[in-house]
Amino acid sequence: MTSNRWASLHRGEIDRLTVRVFREAWRARPEVRHIRMEGVDAVVKDYGRGGNIFKHLLGAFLARREVAALHRAEGLPHVPHVYAMPRLWIAVLEYIDAAPVTAQPRQTFDAGFFDRLSGLIDMIHRRGIAHGDLEKLDNILVTPDGEPAIVDFAAAIMSGGNPLVALALPYVQENDRRAICKLKSVVAPDLLTDEERQILETRRPAEVWYRRLRKYIRRPVKSLASRADERPADQTGNTRWRPGNHHYSA
Ligand SMILES: Nc1ncnc2c1ncn2[C@@H]1O[C@H](COP(=O)(O)OP(=O)(O)OP(=O)(O)O)[C@@H](O)[C@H]1O
Ligand SMILES: [Mg+2]
Repeated sequence: MTSNRWASLHRGEIDRLTVRVFREAWRARPEVRHIRMEGVDAVVKDYGRGGNIFKHLLGAFLARREVAALHRAEGLPHVPHVYAMPRLWIAVLEYIDAAPVTAQPRQTFDAGFFDRLSGLIDMIHRRGIAHGDLEKLDNILVTPDGEPAIVDFAAAIMSGGNPLVALALPYVQENDRRAICKLKSVVAPDLLTDEERQILETRRPAEVWYRRLRKYIRRPVKSLASRADERPADQTGNTRWRPGNHHYSA
């Protein structure tokens, strides 16, 4: 299939090709769908779905940031390749056959798995990228043959641009590595070393300030984006639309 087919996708087609909705749109968060076209699987992240002009503009910014980080990571194993951006706020990505770490049986997580995860995160860091959202553990997936995969680069930052970002980069990368310890503490606490326990318990002041600043900036942005998501209540008094996982077959 030519890459132009992905680039010309519109929402009607995306709906029609849907295999499963991973996440519904909510506030600044995108709608995430697994689609299949001509036998090829892909993931569509639509940052403007159900939103007003503000959400579309913010969506264009977030989608561009995610796609820029994925382009920088191009060629790394188990990091999605970018197929196209049919709209400024819609990214079509390679579908990775993998499931979130939180949905895996405990025996998946031996020392080898964590070494491979750590190796993948190091490769991402060597490209000058910090993922920035690995503590949300479901951004780490596991393939059927037990390989770690990483998705959701929407919060990623990269070297080579803004000097403030360059200052934050090592701290955000440190935070990415802390996510490995967090995952271990959740799924395989027996494997945690004393050093890793220590890492889990300490955050450097610079990182704490970076997180506070990020939260401070995100709060009004989320609130503006959520105005676009308000839906009227149905006759039972429930809102017709709620965020969360929603699965169905096409
Ligand atoms: N390229 C991909 N291949 C396979 N599954 C994917 C891919 N991208 C996303 N997913 C699935 O969709 C879920 C949500 O995607 P993603 O994390 O990118 O969106 P999100 O809106 O940031 O969600 P959240 O806020 O819950 O992290 C992932 O946890 C993963 O299960
Ligand atoms: Mg995510």
